[in-house]
Amino acid sequence: MERLVIRGGVPLKGRIHVSGAKNAVLKLMCASLLSHEPCCIRNVPRIKDVATMCDVLRSLGARVDWRGSSLWIEVPDKLDYTAPHELIKSMRASIQVMGPLLVRLGKVRVSLPGGCAIGDRPIDMHLRGLRALGARVWEDQGYIYAQGERLRGAEIHLDYPSVGATENLMMAAALAKGKTTIQNAAMEPEIIESQEFLNKMGARIRGAGTNKIEIEGVEELGGADYQVIPDRVEAGSYMLAAAMTGGDLTIEGAVADHLGAVIHKLLEAGVELECLDRETIRVRGTGLIRPFHLRTRPYPGFPTDLQPQFVALATIARGISIITEEIYNNRLKHVAELRRMGADIVVEGQTAIIRGVGRLSGAVVSVPDLRAGAALVLAGLAADGETVVEDVGHIDRGYEGIEGKLAAVGAQIRREGIEERAC
Ligand code: EPU
Repeated sequence: MERLVIRGGVPLKGRIHVSGAKNAVLKLMCASLLSHEPCCIRNVPRIKDVATMCDVLRSLGARVDWRGSSLWIEVPDKLDYTAPHELIKSMRASIQVMGPLLVRLGKVRVSLPGGCAIGDRPIDMHLRGLRALGARVWEDQGYIYAQGERLRGAEIHLDYPSVGATENLMMAAALAKGKTTIQNAAMEPEIIESQEFLNKMGARIRGAGTNKIEIEGVEELGGADYQVIPDRVEAGSYMLAAAMTGGDLTIEGAVADHLGAVIHKLLEAGVELECLDRETIRVRGTGLIRPFHLRTRPYPGFPTDLQPQFVALATIARGISIITEEIYNNRLKHVAELRRMGADIVVEGQTAIIRGVGRLSGAVVSVPDLRAGAALVLAGLAADGETVVEDVGHIDRGYEGIEGKLAAVGAQIRREGIEERAC
């Protein structure tokens, strides 16, 4: 088991670079399944979730090669239509292969994803959308099956702007016959990435970034070469690293347009921010964090993927902050770990009431899930003394080289237990 050992209290200073967006890359990899020609995705982070998606695509028969930070994906005419249980189990995003496989092969079999560390996460909207496109969808012995020789465009209204359902349906509709409209679509920047990538492949999609997406089905899709946007959650996490250590970080790959709600909250908390250009933000911690209230919402609201990190920030504020998680029903597991570091937090339902304690003290903590892990690293960077963050594997799912990047701006952080992996 690997762990991060952090000696806290050092203000971080310098420039830090944000990697490509995990939640865009994973979907573009799935979209590549629609192409008869090779696709190249650039600026891909070397993280565990991307490695898992490489395994998913390979298990289906695709060829996936790294060239530097680019992924080349080549998909043969003959593909397997089954996404294996082991891979779906380790990463829910693998259900995004459903739309592309169905429309390309006329059938698909995907292991039914179970519960998840952060909540129930059903996929009913994905399935209803595929049915609306004319597929027959059923469940049997832990697998979901979908079948439909030529999908037909349809009017789809999502009950909720689900990111995954919007993307799955965009991919399926890209090769369906006729026009599809997705109403109440998710509006995240990653959805725009899917649109741009698919359009480069020859799809006819417009409206991504708004709540109405229109897709004119085409006969076939070709290759694409595409550079992915920086990861807004990683950027936000490093913005907090500066704020919480009273540091001064210039974050390259922090796109202000994607971080509106986050910037707003940081200003409210008294953090100094300066947008140096479209993709660079300088963040200075003033040493005094003001308390704040926030609720997570679909984009452009405050992102749930930064909620745990903001709970960490609130633990050292001067006053009481209130943070409500609205997207997931079990995403407050970091609270128990932060309490081990001296945080004063009461949980009522999905709301954390945080009485800032000024300073945290180092402790041994264990990572329950990806973003909670980032929150614990931030808490460790700000705390007095030594923090040992165990179960770091969760963090490696979504943060490329986190300890290297933080050490380069002055953090006293090291990874231990690597020799066990080598065995
Ligand atoms: N939902 C349903 N039915 C559905 C689909 C979603 O009830 O058919 C519910 C979910 O249970 C959840 C909410 O709707 O409570 C939001 O789910 P959504 O489909 O929008 O999320 P997702 O596509 O499963 C992506 C990101 C998550 C991020 C959410 C919300 C990827 C691979 N994952 O998940 O990222 O939290 O959007 O922004 O893109 C992370 O990176 O740590 C992460 C969890």
